[in-house]
Amino acid sequence: MISAIRDLIRTARSVAVLTGAGISAESGIPTFRDAGGLWRNFRAEDLATPQAFARDPKLVWEWYNWRRSLIAQAEPNAGHYALAELEKRIPDFTLITQNVDGLHDRAGSMRLLKIHGDIWTLRCTACGCERRDLRPSLPQLPPLCECGGPCQGFARPGVVWFGEGLPPAIWAKSEEAAANADVFLVIGTSAMVYPAAGLVHLAQASGAKVVEVNPAETPVSRMVAFTWRAPAAEALPLLVNQTE
Ligand code: OAD
Repeated sequence: MISAIRDLIRTARSVAVLTGAGISAESGIPTFRDAGGLWRNFRAEDLATPQAFARDPKLVWEWYNWRRSLIAQAEPNAGHYALAELEKRIPDFTLITQNVDGLHDRAGSMRLLKIHGDIWTLRCTACGCERRDLRPSLPQLPPLCECGGPCQGFARPGVVWFGEGLPPAIWAKSEEAAANADVFLVIGTSAMVYPAAGLVHLAQASGAKVVEVNPAETPVSRMVAFTWRAPAAEALPLLVNQTE
């Protein structure tokens, strides 16, 4: 199977990739829906909705501070690095990630679309301005906007919460990449959250060969061309090393 996938990638004109929390699992960052995952231990309604933030911004920020600290201690793994390497070899390559952890950036990926935002970005709830803040844990919760204007708004994490739309321009580019891909890799996602999971269906319907890398079965496993039951940090380096 590896050689068949390798051949697909080698002959592809355009490759798009969708990653989820599973690619960062081997960096020590918990996923959402696996055993020990975040949504097994926390209620999304209390922590990851605009209503939760309006009700108790400090509580929401405490949770994000905890996640930022966890992520700050983590390093990109061989799976992240393999995708950064693949990008260098394929002229038309797009990496679409649902992850907010920034590990793809740290591994060197450049053609990257973050459809669920970025945990290291803060966005003012009053004026909408954004800034990067890489401190693992923010001292004052909720942090205030630092635009220097009169808004004095609370800043929120620059991520997409339940009930919110995806950033329109980034989503449009993601749909375009999925629709144009000859090969679409789906890595480490339960493919249960929409609209993100819809990219798999869009790619398939547009003629891409879809390859899944995931140790567990997902709702898209049965429709894809290949499903490779392996952890991303093991599988992806094999794929890239053999695509040289
Ligand atoms: P999930 O937690 O739903 O799914 C993680 C997937 O990774 C599962 O299918 C696992 O089998 C797989 N997995 C676990 N370890 C792996 C490994 N080492 N290598 C490869 N795969 C592995 O996470 P997502 O699909 O990313 O949304 O969740 C989608 C969205 O739901 C997230 O972006 C987040 C969450 O609510 C927002 O924050 C908006």
